[in-house]
Amino acid sequence: MLKIGVLVSGSGSNLQSIIDKIEQGGLSAQISIVICNNPQAFALERCAKHGIPTALMSHKDFPDRNDFDRKMAEILKGHGVELVVMAGFMRVLSPAFLQEFPMRVMNIHPALLPSFPGLHGQKQAFDYGVKFSGCTVHFADSGVDTGPIIIQAIVPVFDDDTEDTLAARILEQEHRIYPQAIQFFAEGKLEVKGRKVIIKGHPRLGPAAIHNPPVTDF
Ligand code: GRF
Repeated sequence: MLKIGVLVSGSGSNLQSIIDKIEQGGLSAQISIVICNNPQAFALERCAKHGIPTALMSHKDFPDRNDFDRKMAEILKGHGVELVVMAGFMRVLSPAFLQEFPMRVMNIHPALLPSFPGLHGQKQAFDYGVKFSGCTVHFADSGVDTGPIIIQAIVPVFDDDTEDTLAARILEQEHRIYPQAIQFFAEGKLEVKGRKVIIKGHPRLGPAAIHNPPVTDF
């Protein structure tokens, strides 16, 4: 059983989707530890409810990022973590941390990378006026939302959307693709070749394009 460590800072709805998928038997992983850097995070209540061990670490208690990351790596290794899952963790990881877990740290971003990286991906896409947005699960590297892409989901943007309705539509898909990406990893299906992540032994998408708005006969 794949041992995962989840890093959170906030609501933890992605964490919840992972917990639910594990409890349903669809995800062959166990959450060995959740590390949280925010004492107010609702994610902590979710862990308490499901009996998942947590470590609360405020980065403010550490002199610098490297010390904080070193401690995190120590806790994760101490729990036998094989895959680190960033789920709304509002910190960039140091190169030293990433070296401890090479191609073993995943992140989720609420936009179709490489468009709209960084904070507020949903708002950036909404303000830009795109007709599609979505979300991306990728391996973390030392950049901001730049690592090799594992899976993406696309959602349409409608004329009457608000930033919030779009964000909700994206979040629903985050909850589908994150457990799937972790399950790919657990099954040993992910092969990283440079920037490309090959998913072995999984059906491929059909060739049909999608248009928004739909292209009609005219
Ligand atoms: C999500 O939108 C995720 O894509 C981003 O941070 C948000 C976390 O939400 N990285 P939650 O804490 O999982 O509800």
